[in-house]
Amino acid sequence: MSDLPPARRSVLRGAALAGAAGLGLTACSVGGGTSTGPDKPVDLGAADAVPVGGVKYYRDEFLLVSRPSTDEYKALWSRCTHQNCPLEKIEGKVGICPCHGSRFDVTSGKVLHGPADRPLSKVPVKVVGGKLIAGPDRKA
Ligand code: FES
Repeated sequence: MSDLPPARRSVLRGAALAGAAGLGLTACSVGGGTSTGPDKPVDLGAADAVPVGGVKYYRDEFLLVSRPSTDEYKALWSRCTHQNCPLEKIEGKVGICPCHGSRFDVTSGKVLHGPADRPLSKVPVKVVGGKLIAGPDRKA
């Protein structure tokens, strides 16, 4: 089985990433600017997917959602406030930026370790019909 080639999708994804890296287009090279959240509402699916007292990382949407109590949700933008890299690894409630090692509390956004010196951006989030909707309160 190990002789099988990787799935085409994985190959294409790897090639795209390699191409971006080769051109110096990593998320980290956005000239030091940072984004602060989605520009339109994002449907994250079932609100119950976030455990009470826990955090769920919606990696593709760059959103971290915590749920301090049954009916309370908090969302944070997962792009590092240093140079905009998306957080990669979440260990417990600590998010780690792969670019220069900043660490954040993924429930509050607080910086735990630099070089970032600003907390992760808060993103509005609400439950509509059992689904989490994060981002600005306007139509897509
Ligand atoms: Fe530099 Fe995150 S982009 S530490």
